[in-house]
Amino acid sequence: MGSLLEAYERRRQAGEIRPDAAQLPVVQRLDRLADDLARLPQAGGLFSVFRKPLPPPKGLYIHGEVGRGKTMLMDLFFGEVQVARKRRVHFHAFMQDVHARLHQARQSHARDAIAPVAKAIASEARLLCLDEMQITDIADAMIVGRLFEGLFQAGTVIVTTSNLAPQELYRDGLNRHLFLPFIGLIGERLDVIALHSATDYRLGRVKAHETFLTPISPETDAKLQDLWRRLTDTEAGEPMEVDVLGRKLHVPQAAHGCARFTFSELCEKPLGPPDYLALAHNFRTVFVEHVPQLGPERRNEAKRFVLLIDTLYDEKVRLVATSAQGPDGIYPAGDHAFEFGRTASRLKEMQSASWWGKKIAET
Ligand SMILES: Nc1ncnc2c1ncn2[C@@H]1O[C@H](COP(=O)(O)OP(=O)(O)O)[C@@H](O)[C@H]1O
Ligand SMILES: [Mg+2]
Repeated sequence: MGSLLEAYERRRQAGEIRPDAAQLPVVQRLDRLADDLARLPQAGGLFSVFRKPLPPPKGLYIHGEVGRGKTMLMDLFFGEVQVARKRRVHFHAFMQDVHARLHQARQSHARDAIAPVAKAIASEARLLCLDEMQITDIADAMIVGRLFEGLFQAGTVIVTTSNLAPQELYRDGLNRHLFLPFIGLIGERLDVIALHSATDYRLGRVKAHETFLTPISPETDAKLQDLWRRLTDTEAGEPMEVDVLGRKLHVPQAAHGCARFTFSELCEKPLGPPDYLALAHNFRTVFVEHVPQLGPERRNEAKRFVLLIDTLYDEKVRLVATSAQGPDGIYPAGDHAFEFGRTASRLKEMQSASWWGKKIAET
């Protein structure tokens, strides 16, 4: 038994984590990787010039639903693993750093900036742990293939977590065919492993029937903020651009599979079905703040809200909202108010424990 399995076991015995059969194969795989990495000769060691360098061990792509322990396991691994140069970074921050370096490289000289940037990153870290890989932006999508190619070539070992399987990455993006080689590269160079734990450990902190909050008030604002904190372990998310068939959908806050908007950001702008679909494909939970009561003169907003809820419903996305009215009172009169009944009924269903994926019904 390697050191990582021991560390996992220690935590379990201390009562910090519950036994989870689905996590065990991931721990074992990470444990093996930690052993392989520790066995690699350190650069500059005695006689290292005479030895043929060992091929680096295969890294890992760990994917699964949110709250399953992907980040927890990767961090446990990162803490235990004996590698001289290791770097652990959120994928979003990593890509920001990459773009900054590319910018600099292009200013000074290089026509091909990606290769030297990959080389520089590789020289700083033998092991790169990237949390929450998610590709939503065309600027990222068009460079990750060559960037990762360069990193692998330089012997960088990559461990990454993602809420999406590789083939789901950048699903609605423009020029996706140019992105497909990256998916191939991941399959080839990383062991792709799914963490299908039955438990969403973060979801346990949420009561489904308290996710549609009325009316709009400082109290419900605070409750929504509390739900955000419970589901994301952050106070605020990072802004993000989601590429939707060549346009940009601006997500004001994103974290841990959650996206956060105000009603006006989502339904008072000229957004349509592809935007809502991209949202549903990239996030597991959507927060919508300050849904107003909609009069007959706001039929366009009402129509968009119906589209949004239908899309989230069809894609089984969870919703957290603050609203002036309960579902039945949002759009009481106006064009298509009758059909709004279906949306209201869906909104109610989306507050049920079973919608939130809970086995035990709450009272
Ligand atoms: N086996 C477990 N027992 C108890 N809590 C766990 C277990 N695995 C994960 N957690 C906790 O659940 C929360 C979500 O885990 P996290 O690793 O952030 O999930 P993910 O990265 O898959 O979204 C964290 O607070 C984590 O410490
Ligand atoms: Mg995570």
